[in-house]
Amino acid sequence: MPYTFDESRKRFAIAQKTIAGGINSGIRLMEKPVPLYFTHGKGSRIWDVDGNEYIDYQIGQGAILYGHAPDGMVEALSEQAAKGTHWAAQCDLELEVSQRLCGMVPSVEKVRFNNCATEAVAAAFRLARSYTGRPKILKFEGHYHGWLDEGLVGFANSPSEWGPDDAPNSLHPSQGIIEEVLERFVVARWNDPDHLRARLKPVGNQIAAIIFEPIVCNASCLEPVEGMMQTITELCREHGILMIADETITGFRFGIGGAQSVLGIDPDLTIFGKAVGAGTPFAVLAGKTKIFEPIVQGTTIHAGTLNANPLCLAASNWCLQHLESLGDKHPEEIHALGKILMAGLSDLANKWDIPLAPQGPGLVFHTTMFKSGQREIEPIKDYRDYFRRHDASRWAHLRRYLLEEGVRAIERGLWFLSLAHTAKDIQETLDRSGTAFRRHAETWST
Ligand SMILES: Cc1ncc(COP(=O)(O)O)c(C=O)c1O
Repeated sequence: MPYTFDESRKRFAIAQKTIAGGINSGIRLMEKPVPLYFTHGKGSRIWDVDGNEYIDYQIGQGAILYGHAPDGMVEALSEQAAKGTHWAAQCDLELEVSQRLCGMVPSVEKVRFNNCATEAVAAAFRLARSYTGRPKILKFEGHYHGWLDEGLVGFANSPSEWGPDDAPNSLHPSQGIIEEVLERFVVARWNDPDHLRARLKPVGNQIAAIIFEPIVCNASCLEPVEGMMQTITELCREHGILMIADETITGFRFGIGGAQSVLGIDPDLTIFGKAVGAGTPFAVLAGKTKIFEPIVQGTTIHAGTLNANPLCLAASNWCLQHLESLGDKHPEEIHALGKILMAGLSDLANKWDIPLAPQGPGLVFHTTMFKSGQREIEPIKDYRDYFRRHDASRWAHLRRYLLEEGVRAIERGLWFLSLAHTAKDIQETLDRSGTAFRRHAETWST
């Protein structure tokens, strides 16, 4: 029998009375038919208040790389909680975590700890401007760098606002921002090295940094085309621009060196979030010693009451140790499982004549639901392409059936594998998905 969500519905109705909009992060409203309320999770599974068990590919929006409630981490957290949850001061754990990070990622010589990646991005922009003495940041359309005024430039509410392909407008999807911030950004399309060169040429000496998601998990899971990383590297060197890799999603997921090690790049600054905190509010601004100088001198401010919180450090230390212990098995094993899942979903889409195609490297991927006649064309290449060709309402329809059969993908179409997923989970996912795809095919009408 398909799952029902009556208990979640009841709670969501009650939540409206005290929580603005009933949820605490806007994106959670995307979950249909109702934002779910959970009781507990273990490994690859999570249970809601209606007693429904899901094979979880949302996995804390990618933060729970190790699966839910891994045994060793529970102990690490309890041990620290017994000693104290917050000191706003120094402790040995911060030495340990910082040393591990500097040892694991070749580009990392120094770190500063933060509470979330949105904050770490804000710190990176401030630092880049003060280090270079330049006013602007170049970012790419559809690359998400947190929800603040600066991080969310380059997203639009409507394609009519985008501007021409060769000169995308500097836009922000939220009202209430400081409008002048938009003038401090140059926006470029992703995966078009020639376009990037042309876009940068007239403004190169005003740009403090180029920021990007190495694998654009927030827009169709786009991998960089040949020459993209090399072009960014060359342009940064040529114009004295800092390179900022936002590895909030990819860091540690793609192995202990992050996506930067896989892609062979050497960023000046890197943002780590999600996996590095193992589900606690923790993120890291990392990079070269010389770039951190303005913070060391105190001319550029970086602060926070909860920075380097010992509970978060305990979780992070556990996770970094755990990853080290996996050696070469990570990320190979979850890549392989992800690819099996992608192939199985593709087969199901073909069987039921659903224009759905998984795209991405494996351990994270995106299921694009193509609009009519769009599937046969080449894979999605940038944000505009994704926006134009992805049929969001048809995907939402299928996603709801997946949820009703106990398979939880991210509302936008993203799927994260965790280290807790097994071959058995993948097979069960495909069995359950078979029913969901059939139900979708039988009921979807355009
Ligand atoms: C690439 C990237 N950067 C930054 C952020 C912001 O992270 P947080 O929500 O922890 O502030 C996210 C969140 O999903 C992200 O995917």
